[in-house]
Order: sequence, then C-alpha cells, then structure tokens
Amino acid sequence: MTDFDKQSYWHERFASERSFEWLIPSSTFMGVLAPYLQGLAGSTRILHLGSGTSDLHNHIREHGFPDVTNVDYEPLALDRGRELENARFGDVQTKYVVADATRLDMGDTKYQVVVDKSTADAIACGEDGAVLSMARGVRRCLDEDGFWISLSFSPTRYEHVRPLFNVELIGKIPTPKHKPTDPNIFYYCYLLRPRREQL
Ligand SMILES: C[S@@+](CC[C@H](N)C(=O)[O-])C[C@H]1O[C@@H](n2cnc3c(N)ncnc32)[C@H](O)[C@@H]1O
Repeated sequence: MTDFDKQSYWHERFASERSFEWLIPSSTFMGVLAPYLQGLAGSTRILHLGSGTSDLHNHIREHGFPDVTNVDYEPLALDRGRELENARFGDVQTKYVVADATRLDMGDTKYQVVVDKSTADAIACGEDGAVLSMARGVRRCLDEDGFWISLSFSPTRYEHVRPLFNVELIGKIPTPKHKPTDPNIFYYCYLLRPRREQL
C-alpha cells in the first residue's frame, strides 16, 4: 500500500511534480465551494490544509479572497504552491506554512473557512484516530461561526468527528466511467460546522 500518510512519500513525489489535482480539478471543487464563500468579506481568513501541488489557492484568490494560508507538512509542496501562484498572478500574496495537519497549532489566529481537498484521505491512511486529531486541530483554529469544507473519496470519512462537528454532505460528484457498465462511484463533499457545546 502507498504511504500517503508519510512525508517522505510526498517529498519524493514533489521533487519532480509541479502541479497535480487529486480527485477533481480545483475549478470543479470551486463550483461547490463558491456558493458558501458568497457574501463573505474579501478579508475572510481561509486555511487550506494539505495544499500539495494543487492550484486551489489560486482559484480562491481569483474569487476575491487573498487571505489564504496554505499548510502542508512537506516544504516542497509550499514551494510548488508559491511557484503556481507567481505563475498565475505575477506575485505571491497567500501565505505558506509548514505544519502537520494532525497537530495543528495556528496560535491565536482564527479562520472563518477551512478547506481540504483529499488531505483527510491521505491522513486517514495513517494511524487510527489521525482524522480525529486533524478535526480537533481544525476545531481549535476555526471561528465559532466558521465552517470546514472537505472533499473526499470516502462516504464515511467524518463518522468519528461528529462529537466535534455537525457533518453535512453537500455534494456527491460522480467519477468518470470508462464503460457504461462501470459502477457509479462518487467523491463526497462535506460541510462541517463546529458543534457549539464543544468549546
Ligand atoms: C492527496 S494529496 C492532496 C493535495 C491537494 N490538496 C490536491 O487536491 O491536489 C495530500 C496532501 O496532504 C499533505 N499531507 C498529508 N498528510 C499531511 C499532514 N499530516 N499534515 C499536513 N499535510 C499533509 C501531502 O503532503 C499532500 O500535499
């Protein structure tokens, strides 16, 4: 089995990978995300977990939200993120932070929005409870009125975080079929809102 939870795997991969989108293009993911961003101030703080070599931060910035903090535990991912942003805009405005998403400590900074695209999937390949540790960290740095939007291949990704978050399925994205007889397979988009009693 591939070591998707191991930093060494990502380090080796990002040594040559410049740009890649897990599950779906960021433009497609924005179709789910954008209605939730609508009406929020341009100064909204957004935390992008496990940014990898995706261009999701560029799409979010393009939508008028430059205050994006991209987090990855592999420093090469952040180099790739800066390169992609610079190539798209000619400058770098979003932030880049090396951190382990299963041990998130963003100090006193609170975010209104957290996004991850298949990062919880990678983390779920690690030890039992890793996704719950990620969720605890997100809960600590998320505004009480904030939300976390997550894309995953798993229909049960957030079963164990329900004491911390109200979990709602907001999108089921069909995967392409190669033959008409192929089974229906979906990616799942979750909206997680902090449960008030978990302060
Ligand atoms: C499946 S890739 C998704 C990348 C990107 N979000 C996308 O959609 O293309 C998982 C990403 O999460 C990062 N990652 C995995 N475990 C992590 C952890 N514990 N803390 C921070 N980043 C992690 C990897 O380095 C990789 O960039």
